[in-house]
This record gives sequence, structure tokens and C-alpha cells, in this order.
Amino acid sequence: MKTGGEVLRRGLFIVFVTVPLVSQASVVDEQLAGYRADGAGPFSAQKGEQLWQREVVSAKDGRARSCTTCHGNDLRSTGKHTKTGKVIEPLSPAVNAERLGSAREIRKWFKRNCKWTWGRECTPQEKGDFLSFIRRQ
Ligand code: HEC
Repeated sequence: MKTGGEVLRRGLFIVFVTVPLVSQASVVDEQLAGYRADGAGPFSAQKGEQLWQREVVSAKDGRARSCTTCHGNDLRSTGKHTKTGKVIEPLSPAVNAERLGSAREIRKWFKRNCKWTWGRECTPQEKGDFLSFIRRQ
């Protein structure tokens, strides 16, 4: 027979381990559904990876910029902010449970980072491809 403590421990384990995974997935799925409603899709992780590497020469300083400029190629590793030098925690949700769990953060950072990197906002298609790529890292 299971003791009360054992049942409780198991229950807590299930709650703490599965809840963040479920909510993270649903936040991403909600974003993807929103992009689809805007006419985008289907989304491709492979395309997202290509976009991740894509370099655009900045009109501001004439230098090539890409998402890797701050986040690096390996999303499971820390990145470094190219302007401030600050460490950026990994974007991979597999190693950083904080990632892709908040629609507000996703929107805010897409806006800021697309503008800085490509000189414009990303399209719903590009955002969907990016999220499909990032969520699998
Ligand atoms: C100038 C540096 C810089 C560049 C270039 C950059 N980012 Fe970021 N990005 C950041 C910083 C800083 C954060 C927030 C860091 C944190 O939350 O620890 C961030 C956060 C994010 C997040 C939020 C993830 C989450 O849920 O917390 C996403 C998504 C993201 N970046 C995608 C991109 C994409 C896509 C590109 C390329 C178009 C890109 N970034 C280029 C600096 C950059």
C-alpha cells in the first residue's frame, strides 16, 4: 500500500513536471494559431533554422546581423548580447524552462529583435517558422 506521503510526493511531481511543459506548449500553439489566422502556415522548423542564420547587412553600421549575433548557433548554450556584452540565457525550452512560456515575452522580443536584426518586423510566417525551430531545440 502506498503511504499518504508517497502519494503526495507523486502528485506534486506530476504537477510540477507536467504543468510547465503543458503551458509552454499551449502558449506556442496559441501563437501559431494566431499566425495562421493571419494567413500564414504551414510552419517549418527547418525553414526557421535557415532564417535563424540569415544575415542582413545593417543600414546603421554596415555590418551583417543575424539572430546568432546575440543568441549563437547552439540554442542550448548561453548567448551574449552584442551591444551590452550581457549573458543571454539559452533560448532552448529543453534547457531553460522559462522560455516560450509567455505570449507577452514572445511578442515583445520578436518585435525588438526582428527590428534590430533585419531592420523590420518579422512576418507571421517567419515568426511561426522561428517558434517551430526554437521549441525543438
Ligand atoms: C541584439 C541582441 C539580440 C539579437 C540579434 C536577437 N535577440 Fe532574441 N533576445 C535578446 C535578448 C536580450 C532577449 C531576452 C533575454 C532574456 O530573456 O534573458 C531575447 C529574447 C528572445 C526571445 C524570447 C524567448 C522567451 O520566451 O523568453 C525570442 C523568441 C528571441 N529572442 C528570438 C530572436 C530571433 C528570432 C532573433 C533574430 C531575428 C533574435 N532573437 C535576435 C537579444 C537578441
